[in-house]
Amino acid sequence: MSEESSGAAETVIRRERFAGGQARSFMSSLEADARIFAADLAVDRAHTVMLAEQGIVGADEAAAILDALDAVADAGHDALPDGEDVHEAIESAVVDAVGPVGGKMHTARSRNDEVATCIRYRFREDLLDAAEATLELRGTLLDAAAAEADTVVPGFTHRQHAQPTTVGHLLASYAGALARDTERLLAAFERTNRSPLGSAAFAGTTFDVDRQRTAGLLGFHDVIENAADAVTARDFLIEGCGAVAALSATLSGLATDLIEAAKDGHVDLDDAYASTSSIMPQKKNPDSLELVRAVAGDAVGDLTGLLTTLKGLPRAYNRDLQRATPHAWDAVDIVTDATEVTAGAVATAEWDADACAADAGAGFSTATGVADALAAGGLPFRTAHELVAAAAGEIDDGATVDEQVDAVDAAATDLLDESLSAYVDRETLAALLSPAGSVAARDSRGGPAASALTESLTRLRDTHDEHSSAVDVHRESLAAAEDRLAAEVHEYA
Ligand code: ARG
Repeated sequence: MSEESSGAAETVIRRERFAGGQARSFMSSLEADARIFAADLAVDRAHTVMLAEQGIVGADEAAAILDALDAVADAGHDALPDGEDVHEAIESAVVDAVGPVGGKMHTARSRNDEVATCIRYRFREDLLDAAEATLELRGTLLDAAAAEADTVVPGFTHRQHAQPTTVGHLLASYAGALARDTERLLAAFERTNRSPLGSAAFAGTTFDVDRQRTAGLLGFHDVIENAADAVTARDFLIEGCGAVAALSATLSGLATDLIEAAKDGHVDLDDAYASTSSIMPQKKNPDSLELVRAVAGDAVGDLTGLLTTLKGLPRAYNRDLQRATPHAWDAVDIVTDATEVTAGAVATAEWDADACAADAGAGFSTATGVADALAAGGLPFRTAHELVAAAAGEIDDGATVDEQVDAVDAAATDLLDESLSAYVDRETLAALLSPAGSVAARDSRGGPAASALTESLTRLRDTHDEHSSAVDVHRESLAAAEDRLAAEVHEYA
């Protein structure tokens, strides 16, 4: 088409573009903003109360605005008028309700500080939900670990039989990892819970705003000092997303260990956490745990999307930021769900102690204990390691303990020209060669012996309770702020 002949069509397209259409809906975040509808109402209320307290708007003007906000809250997000986003739509609804005075609500602020505040207001709750889910899972793991403290089971490295351990020790290891996941979430909460409100577009405002006051009314423990930093910063989303991505990696490891244990017949998952095959009627598949494992992919994808979106953005607001936020919502939701499902799967799983014990000694997995005993008797550990390796080559799977002792004795005679008894007596060795004896001997701090595990479980339980109190304190302080804001708003009724 020549330039002239395309003129008419272009006019039509341009008019359409100005009128709205695809680009308008492409730019709108209104639907996704349902998540911050309540947050925006709180931010509007706190800001309006502060404006009135500072004499920037009149008390009766504030009263009209706050009244209209109540009506908007009652009608819900779906009743909002069209708008580019929830901030604009709520403001329109307020103006529709009370007339131009409603526009005073937006004095001394911008959507830039507004949206940053809303996201932080909501995300801090999501982080506490995620932390609570980790606490629930940790509690479940600790209960199961205590119940299975004596359930001897094969331990693997490189997926090869390595050393006997206990189900209790395996599960407690995940309770330990999850404690750090909770810590990361609480640290992310701390940096999320700071207020950007009152920064306006990025360069502050000519009005005498009280940023500390709105921060307090909204339950933030501090403000973000620099106004340009305050409106731009999304590193709290990176940190929170990073924390849930790390959590998802912990979950995926636990899922795999449980899937393998189910495959070996060591654990039976509750039917609610399994599926059957559409063609093979005998099958019970650990689908819930496979999905938990896959969630790590979602979390890593979200974290990558978030980082890639934020990388290279200059100071202040750029609309790219709108597409950063949903990555964080998605990641925190899916990982919290996965954490809760995993807790259910662990709580209802039944461990088969006999099946576990039957496999615990497979692959001469007690060999390390034999080498340790020889070393304790004075033989250099490296020599002991060689000797036991030579014996291992002669021991068939299914060999009795007596046959194993004989093989070690033969290797000693062969390699050292000495009898085994120079270093350790047969009875001690026989005890160490039994998986249960091997576990009982591993009583160093953090080891699987019942005595060591009991101590570990006490420490893990204490940390669990400390973290649980920390979450409670945060929840209470947010709830108290909500009450305070409601009481302040009530003053204008
Ligand atoms: N919907 C926007 C977001 O989610 C809100 C901020 C818009 N600000 C602006 N200056 N256009 O990021």
